[in-house]
Amino acid sequence: TRPLKVALLGCGVVGSEVARIMTTHADDLAARIGAPVELAGVAVRRPSKVREGIDPALVTTDATALVKRGDIDVVVEVIGGIEPARTLITTAFEHGASVVSANKALLAQDGADLHAAAEAHNKDLYYEAAVAGAIPLIRPLRESLAGDKVNRVLGIVNGTTNFILDKMDSTGAGYQEALDEATALGYAEADPTADVEAFDAAAKAAILAGIAFHTRVRLDDVYREGMTEVTAADFASAREMGCTIKLLAICERAEDGGSVTARVHPAMIPLTHPLASVRGAYNAVFVESDASGQLMFYGPGAGGAPTASAVLGDLVAVCRNRLNGATGPGESSYAALPVSGMGAV
Ligand code: HSE
Repeated sequence: TRPLKVALLGCGVVGSEVARIMTTHADDLAARIGAPVELAGVAVRRPSKVREGIDPALVTTDATALVKRGDIDVVVEVIGGIEPARTLITTAFEHGASVVSANKALLAQDGADLHAAAEAHNKDLYYEAAVAGAIPLIRPLRESLAGDKVNRVLGIVNGTTNFILDKMDSTGAGYQEALDEATALGYAEADPTADVEAFDAAAKAAILAGIAFHTRVRLDDVYREGMTEVTAADFASAREMGCTIKLLAICERAEDGGSVTARVHPAMIPLTHPLASVRGAYNAVFVESDASGQLMFYGPGAGGAPTASAVLGDLVAVCRNRLNGATGPGESSYAALPVSGMGAV
């Protein structure tokens, strides 16, 4: 069988792990797929920063030329951000490739258009790594639960803020002190805005709500409130009520089924709820559905290797589809339900 050719766009923390695992697990990947996979090119902005172990002959700064080559089976996009990622992905579809992306911001903003572009060219678009790193969520919601009816998704989908809130809860620390520790440990970035103001969680909520309810939800539809105002006193009050405080992404289907809501804000949850036990920088997503009842998905929501694990799972699925001449689930069966940030809850 001919090898399937993979183009890697971006070779930072996640991309270099993808390339490493493609090499070290090459035999297992070939066995899972039914054909070998070959890294055919790696597009980066600064070739001097590419880590050891990647053949320098594969490295290019011309991502556009790489996706236009015409012989690429799968483009793996781990650049992040809206542009040039969006144009590169649509160009990849036009030139015959399927796409695996880890790009949360792009999928939350333009997921519907990208799905339409994939379907127009009969190609796949998979993005398990865009939400909560290694935790399998997209495919369980989109495929395993496709015959069930999901009514509510509650998620701790930002590890940095969960670390901060957990620290406040367990030590009585204030917000700033807990944030400083998260920064010192490398969880929070120098500018923590995307995490603490819940932009990151809101993007994940948009993607999760769309997938869970088989409808289109954009970032702008999500009500968002950060966690910078939560105080040690709030935790003390929550404790008195047998609760703790988590930054939750809450996606719900209205009881009449006619609309969905998606929102992210600090919320009190009972200490007896499984989400209350999620400590440190971990993520967890709690799903309630008609037939399956309650499910919880738990694990590391960030980091090079965990995120690469999700990317490689998608790569295997997309490669199998290529060999079978098939495509995975798209969006064409979606209902256009009204979406709002708060709605009637
Ligand atoms: N900053 C994010 C988090 C990383 O803390 O969860 C993954 O999006």
